[in-house]
Amino acid sequence: MKHSTFAIVAVTAAVGLVGVFAGSSPAEFVDANTPVPPVGAEGGPLFPLSGGQLASWINGRRVFDRDFESDDGVGFPDFNGDSCRGCHQDPAIGGAGGLDLNVSRFAFDNGGAGPFMNLPGGQLNHRFRRPDSPGREDPPATADVFEQRQAPSILGLGLIELVPESEILANADPNDANGDGVFGHARFVNINGVDELGRFGWKAGVPSLLDFANDAMSNEVGITVPDVSRGFGFATDADGFPDPEITLGEIQDLSFFMSNLAAPPRGGATSPLVANGEALFSQIGCDLCHVPMLNSTVGPIFPYSNFLLHSVAPPSFRGMEEPSAPAGFYRTPPLWGISKTGPYMHDGSAETLMDAIFAHRGEASVVNAMFTNLSAGEKTELLAFLNDL
Ligand code: HEC
Ligand code: HEC
Repeated sequence: MKHSTFAIVAVTAAVGLVGVFAGSSPAEFVDANTPVPPVGAEGGPLFPLSGGQLASWINGRRVFDRDFESDDGVGFPDFNGDSCRGCHQDPAIGGAGGLDLNVSRFAFDNGGAGPFMNLPGGQLNHRFRRPDSPGREDPPATADVFEQRQAPSILGLGLIELVPESEILANADPNDANGDGVFGHARFVNINGVDELGRFGWKAGVPSLLDFANDAMSNEVGITVPDVSRGFGFATDADGFPDPEITLGEIQDLSFFMSNLAAPPRGGATSPLVANGEALFSQIGCDLCHVPMLNSTVGPIFPYSNFLLHSVAPPSFRGMEEPSAPAGFYRTPPLWGISKTGPYMHDGSAETLMDAIFAHRGEASVVNAMFTNLSAGEKTELLAFLNDL
């Protein structure tokens, strides 16, 4: 392992290391000479890019792929992986991660009776620790509620930044005014006194991909970032390396790369199964949350999500709470490219698309019952449609 000037300690013995460290995967995946896939292809740009933009995109891809090393300041001193690509790689760089790359969170909810409380140090339970870490108990002995989070695909998310706030709010129904049992909450995040619409992360806690670049660089990789005073990422840490450990230009290129990654292309199957499945998807109400089309500033896009929070969790569910995002509430995940990003659900607990559908409870109970009542042939059609997205 070229980058190990010291051994990294895995703190969560149950999870494998495969894919997180370059040393355990086949060398670097990309560098400046790696061909750029065609516009619109998996791992390729969203739009044709001019010379300067292409240079930023390629540099951003390099930062996304870069294995941070011990003397780059990886770890703060605990961390979850040493590169973005380590967790976001399927089916192309920027994609999703397997179950072994899940990130876990903890808190205290008094055995489920509440109230929910964050414990000192926050919710993240890091997987790795620098040997020079002062070391904290991991997780604290008082933690009694835990939650796994799956690494989602970033492909196409730049288009979500181009959807006007009003377009997302138009689907919100926080009081279920139409009485269909399906709500839909927009999450606003207060940034320096201004409420901004949360668009990214399983609980929609992050307004922009630039914010996420800062947040993930610090919280996942343990790299300090230039302070842009928006509350995402850390400007300083405890590892003794000069801060910030990455430049503003690198963070901006990283964000530019993510914002300009093509959305997963449709499979384009012409089988009547797919067309029938698409009709069923709407007939039984999947589209109440997985809204097929949103208008963006570059025209209609087809993410199959409303980017609002819903609870499709069973009543017994215990999990993380955040401001304006109670336990069990998650942002409807986009379904474009869904056949290639398993396993599914926030915790990766559903191995197949069928498992994911059957796991829907709460606001999706009626829709789940409608799905259950479909004939075997109709279920096959619906799955054929999902597999074509
Ligand atoms: C250890 C695995 C891991 C590493 C390393 C990692 N991520 Fe992630 N990423 C995740 C997980 C898990 C989530 C879901 C987080 C949540 O909402 O709880 C996520 C979510 C995201 C999202 C939001 C996706 C969405 O659908 O809204 C973006 C953007 C992102 N990561 C970018 C990055 C960048 C940039 C880096 C490198 C600086 C990075 N990630 C490193 C696991 C990882
Ligand atoms: C009430 C809103 C709602 C309805 C109705 C609904 N879903 Fe979902 N769906 C969600 C939410 C929220 C999640 C994420 C839940 C979680 O991670 O725990 C989800 C997750 C999924 C996933 C997994 C996505 C991933 O990236 O892991 C699939 C696949 C899916 N839904 C398909 C469907 C299908 C097919 C239907 C119709 C039978 C449907 N959903 C109906 C809100 C809904």
